Amino acid sequence: MPVPESGSREFRKGDLSLMGGGRMKITRRKLLGNSLRAVAGLAAGACAPGCYLDMAFSPFVTDVSEKDLNASMLREIMDSESGKGESDPFCIALFGDSHHYYSNTEQVIRIINSRDDIDFTLFLGDMTNEGLAEEYEIAHDLFKTLKVPWVSVIGNHDALNNGTDIYSKMFGTFNFDFMYRGVHFIAHNNNNWECGSDPDYDWLEKTARESTAERRVLFSHIKNSNQAYGRYSETDVARFRQIAEKYFSMVVHGHAHANSSLEYIGNVPEYEIGSPEYGHYMFAHFGEQSIEVERCML
Ligand SMILES: [Fe+2]
Repeated sequence: MPVPESGSREFRKGDLSLMGGGRMKITRRKLLGNSLRAVAGLAAGACAPGCYLDMAFSPFVTDVSEKDLNASMLREIMDSESGKGESDPFCIALFGDSHHYYSNTEQVIRIINSRDDIDFTLFLGDMTNEGLAEEYEIAHDLFKTLKVPWVSVIGNHDALNNGTDIYSKMFGTFNFDFMYRGVHFIAHNNNNWECGSDPDYDWLEKTARESTAERRVLFSHIKNSNQAYGRYSETDVARFRQIAEKYFSMVVHGHAHANSSLEYIGNVPEYEIGSPEYGHYMFAHFGEQSIEVERCML
């Protein structure tokens, strides 16, 4: 049985089946700031047998208004790259774990938008609590206010219920990579419990090994260099460390919420970025030979 992380209970597929086909009228705005659990409890208490409530969200809904967002964002990133030299410095913004912390997330977005030196934003996963389509839509409504393109890796909460189906429709493949100004960015899905399979380390190693870039940045939702809660086996931890140390210049994760931290895998810096819940976000400045990081708080 997994131990709860990040100060919240780990939800698994099927947890919300208690909601059944119950229907309750609730709008996106009403959902803001409320936990789904509270809403579900209200529905259960208010709905007499046979009554009909119009429910605007459900764990069974997987249709979303936006499709293949990562692909379209990457096209924007590629378009913005033209005319810029590989050795010119650039800066990216990073944050994750927005969950239902919409107000703080809005503040982080406002700060990113206030700067004119940001080329794009990497979102490190968990834009939802329960992997619901409506939560994905709310997050998109918020994230689309970013002035720069943004790409997202899937978080463990995003994979709950039918979240993997929704993420696939809305963003595309779980593992993906792209080049920007000579740096190879590699996104790796490591939500083993929620996705029901081990992280694809073969894909990660092959993608890194075949990369011709001088620098590679790995971003995944969960820090997999330690064995907190027994999520990853010793074998997987050792393999991840070997890949990270051999091929990467920097490794970045979310999932931590309360803290941002810096540790090293050999000489490779490994950052964990806390959540906007606690005011955390980050900027990374890529110079010709350097990567400098600003770890920020609201
Ligand atoms: Fe997480």
